[in-house]
Amino acid sequence: MKQTSERAASMAVSSSSGYAWGFSGLVYCMVISLLLANASGAHGGRRNMGSTESMRRNLLNNGLGRTPQMGWNSWNHFNCHIDEILIKATADAMVSSGLAAVGYEYVNLDDCWGELNRDSQGNLVPKASAFPSGIKALADYVHSKGLKLGIYSDAGTQTCSGTMPGSLGYEDQDAKTFAAWEVDYLKYDNCANTGTSPKERYPKMSKALLNSGRSIFFSLCEWGQEDPATWAPTIGNSWRTTGDIADEWDSMTSCADQNDKWASYAGPGGWNDPDMLEVGNGNMTTEEYRSHFSIWALAKAPLLIGCDIRSMDNVTFELLSNKEVIAVNQDTLGVQGKKVKKDGDLEVWAGPLTANRVAVVLWNRGSSQANVTAYWSDIGLKSSTIVEARDLWAEYNNLN
Ligand SMILES: *[C@@H]1O[C@H](CO)[C@@H](O)[C@H](O)[C@H]1NC(C)=O
Ligand SMILES: *[C@@H]1O[C@H](CO)[C@@H](O)[C@H](O)[C@H]1NC(C)=O
Ligand SMILES: *[C@@H]1O[C@H](CO)[C@@H](O)[C@H](O)[C@H]1NC(C)=O
Repeated sequence: MKQTSERAASMAVSSSSGYAWGFSGLVYCMVISLLLANASGAHGGRRNMGSTESMRRNLLNNGLGRTPQMGWNSWNHFNCHIDEILIKATADAMVSSGLAAVGYEYVNLDDCWGELNRDSQGNLVPKASAFPSGIKALADYVHSKGLKLGIYSDAGTQTCSGTMPGSLGYEDQDAKTFAAWEVDYLKYDNCANTGTSPKERYPKMSKALLNSGRSIFFSLCEWGQEDPATWAPTIGNSWRTTGDIADEWDSMTSCADQNDKWASYAGPGGWNDPDMLEVGNGNMTTEEYRSHFSIWALAKAPLLIGCDIRSMDNVTFELLSNKEVIAVNQDTLGVQGKKVKKDGDLEVWAGPLTANRVAVVLWNRGSSQANVTAYWSDIGLKSSTIVEARDLWAEYNNLN
């Protein structure tokens, strides 16, 4: 169902006793934060504390990813067409646009940064035609901007593009190379994998990174094939739960749904990853991108921008930089919000935040106008709970 209509300004149905709250009009996506006057009404806020605490002890102990990673990655917009001029300009734009100021931090290379072959010592080699100054110089530049540099490799014999070697069998050597280049982040893909289980291949790189002498964020990308949420929290800071996203509504919503069922496995230090953002790439409407960003924020997904931020328009910037929506994603409670109600195309997604707040997304996924209503029982509140509500996109309080 393709959404083309704009969000309507009008809202309706706010019961004085506070048990129902909804939208009328063409609205299909909103993030609301409920400030609970009566804290005892919110069992949601404590729901996952026990399991989160026990999981924490098993997490990859590199201190990273206490909240979902935020940054940019080259793949969704540029595919293989990357070079150091683009990456430096992207780092510049991250700062000058204001994205860095709202929390975007990592500038991540994806596939195609290296030569086809290793050197005579077996080291990975930056592609001379695209990265003539080398990756260390690029890391220095990105660091000089107050940002961090991410790199890409593959738990197989070659990367997905087939244009550079994978790290299978070279985990220690490559992790040391990345550390020597002062890289801060590794996305680790799953192509040319010789048919071995990811449960064997990914822990080797995790250990290699831990032994590399540098704190390197470890982002697993095995496409959700062997239910990584069940085993990756001990070895990685995030794990893909889906195949690749595309810049279209059906792909985005499918990624959101596939990711949703693993919600209980996410927490500080390790996150479910429904793939990078397509906001700003042009094939969805503004309201579709607003849905995309809202659900990613609520689901504690990595917020990795996938458009060309050197030339993004105002609307794209406004979607990507809404501080209150970002704050839902970066909330330190670290509980992934999830789909709590579905009635045809009308859905309610919700999750607890710190300070007895609940984030709610009312999502009309259909093509016609509808009211979406969240009852207090849908979002874990007693019917007597008194609240203050804030519309995070419209940035106003006390919806009535
Ligand atoms: C744009 O989206 C439509 C479906 O909404 C899809 O069929 C098409 O392949 C997409 N185009 C690109 C370039 O992603
Ligand atoms: C984009 O932002 C600029 C500068 O703030 C402003 O002058 C311009 O009107 C905006 N354009 C749109 C389409 O909102
Ligand atoms: C939404 O609810 C309001 C108030 O009950 C009603 O007037 C309006 O017709 C409804 N809109 C739709 C599309 O159902």
